[in-house]
Amino acid sequence: MKKWFAVIGNPISHSLSPYMHEAWLQESKIDASYIPIHVEEGKLEEAVKGLKLLGCSGWNVTVPYKKEIIPFLDEIDDSAKGIGAVNTVVKSEDNRFIGYNTDGLGFIQSLGLIPPTPQILLLGAGGAARGIAHALKQSGFRNIFIANRTRANAEQLVNDLQIGQAIELHEAEERLDDFDIIIQTTPQGMKNQENTLPIHLHKIKEHAIVADIVYNPLVTPFLEEANKYNVRTINGLGMLVHQGAIAFSYWNGIKPNSDKMVERLTEQLGGNYVNR
Ligand code: ATR
Repeated sequence: MKKWFAVIGNPISHSLSPYMHEAWLQESKIDASYIPIHVEEGKLEEAVKGLKLLGCSGWNVTVPYKKEIIPFLDEIDDSAKGIGAVNTVVKSEDNRFIGYNTDGLGFIQSLGLIPPTPQILLLGAGGAARGIAHALKQSGFRNIFIANRTRANAEQLVNDLQIGQAIELHEAEERLDDFDIIIQTTPQGMKNQENTLPIHLHKIKEHAIVADIVYNPLVTPFLEEANKYNVRTINGLGMLVHQGAIAFSYWNGIKPNSDKMVERLTEQLGGNYVNR
């Protein structure tokens, strides 16, 4: 039977993953397809049964099912356990379905070259921040500060992952010149969301790196603000592509070309690609 992969979520029609994976499958000359599946609220368990029955070789999981899917899988690897969420399911040779999380590592890969032992500021303490914080810890980064609208959620993240320390948003703003990498993980600035800035950047350090995990728009108000200070900025497209590339390699044993895909998707989303 021809292999097939999928992405499940709700909503799913906006997902760029089918375009990305289909292109990589073609490039790699793998005879398989990748389809988006809209899963109705309350139907996740049935959907997972269906995927297994119909011979799906692996699938991605997106909002709102990344946590909810855990009980329906046979095993969860350390990345997904630590983060408490799954974004990739792999069918093993003995037909077991194993959950992974490639989001955080995907983000780190999207950063490219970074200074040694950077001081890192994470803005936000939701699921995305958790994935990134976990991957940062796994990759050996130690100096991590988490600032969030609700301080208790930042403290919870620090406690759960035993990483870094929570600080107030105003404190982050005041001592911004301490940080080498600033990572915006909240939905602020996303199309159809509030356009407020999580913090102002007037105290930003020269040569700092500012990343936003949002990729729609490609240049969020936060990145626009960062551009005023001539620092290196990174949008969320790299994270999307790299998490997908890691999933693709788990399924197919081949690492696809991420840089070319970032370029293609940037063009598709109407931006100018700058290779850094
Ligand atoms: P995800 O879980 O996918 O990362 P989310 O749950 O929608 O996304 O967002 C969670 C994070 O964004 C949280 O840190 C949240 O702050 P709170 O802990 O105070 O809720 C933050 N966030 C969401 N909307 C925000 C806004 N308008 N202003 C500031 N922070 C916001």
